[in-house]
Amino acid sequence: MSLNNVYRDEDANLDLIKDKVVAIIGYGIQGRPQALCMRDSGLNVIIGTRSHQESSSWDKAVEDGFEVMSIEEATKKADIVHVLIADPAQPSVYYESIHNNLKSNCTLCFGHGFNVLYGAIFPPKDVNVVLFVPNSPGHLVREKYLAGSGIYGAIAVDQDVTGDSKDIVLAIAKSVGSTRVGVVEVSFQMETEGDNFEEQALYGGTIHLMRAVFEVMVEHGYPPYFAYAKAIRSLRSVVDVMDKIGIEAYISERSSRTCEFAIRRSGPRVINRAEIEKIFEETESGDFAANWMQEWQLGMPHLHRMRRTGVASEMEKVGCEWRKLFAADD
Ligand SMILES: NC(=O)c1ccc[n+]([C@@H]2O[C@H](COP(=O)([O-])OP(=O)(O)OC[C@H]3O[C@@H](n4cnc5c(N)ncnc54)[C@H](OP(=O)(O)O)[C@@H]3O)[C@@H](O)[C@H]2O)c1
Repeated sequence: MSLNNVYRDEDANLDLIKDKVVAIIGYGIQGRPQALCMRDSGLNVIIGTRSHQESSSWDKAVEDGFEVMSIEEATKKADIVHVLIADPAQPSVYYESIHNNLKSNCTLCFGHGFNVLYGAIFPPKDVNVVLFVPNSPGHLVREKYLAGSGIYGAIAVDQDVTGDSKDIVLAIAKSVGSTRVGVVEVSFQMETEGDNFEEQALYGGTIHLMRAVFEVMVEHGYPPYFAYAKAIRSLRSVVDVMDKIGIEAYISERSSRTCEFAIRRSGPRVINRAEIEKIFEETESGDFAANWMQEWQLGMPHLHRMRRTGVASEMEKVGCEWRKLFAADD
């Protein structure tokens, strides 16, 4: 398999952005850890958030020792504008506060390609448009960086006006530790659709499978706590082992022979490959994105309803009790 599009520390040069001003827009799950890592890597980082009254993170950023200002002001000062606000809020914030304040030839960086790919954000022609995404929640980005490692990630270049956009985004990835382990170059389309496909098929599929396993066991008389531990805790430990040593090594070396037989014989029956393909097609055609944007514009009626059902489910109630009883120190 070609590793041509995978980049590591030796491929990235931090000096390229050492003298530039990096504005982190949004100081949330990704914004805070990335800003802290960038500063520790010697970059000149400022923070742009909504007004002090509206923002839940302005004080935190000040406490952390950053210069904090409005999104407009941060954008005007920045050579690199790293947009890390919640995706659905991005288009309105972008057009209100970022678009008209971008310096010519600056670099506009995103943590997810959704809004650019689907045209909700249409950057001007005289700026670089890039993407850097670490493949994990923000707190792990920080933890790994402090431990001398990093989180595997992806970069993409959508618009290159200065001719060195790829080097700039590689330097951004290096400043948060990701090139210590490796970043892969993709397109905005691949990053976005890959993410949306994974969220539907893998996260959605796994969560609903866990629920189904729990419900079937309880309906057939198993004690709920026992079924809950089966449906979540045992899966967690197994995924960690597979991540460390590989799927086949887990199946044939770390599980029992009964478990191996169960996995290989019955597992495939649970998977509906045709539906997975259909979800992929719906993602690639833009149907999923259109549905989600419509849902968002309507005030998320389906999501609110599904949340209520989820919260009211027996598994959720059992989970609350289970965590108090058996997972206090996790
Ligand atoms: N979460 C992840 O694990 C993860 C992983 C990879 C990539 N990403 C990408 O990283 C980006 C940021 O995601 P996130 O999870 O870090 O977001 P988040 O924590 O949910 O939100 C980040 C910030 O968005 C700001 N915000 C929300 N609505 C706003 C509005 N109307 N005006 C101005 N600011 C607003 C909030 O600002 P205040 O604090 O000022 O209220 C918040 O701190 C997204 O593009 C996401 O797809 C996330």
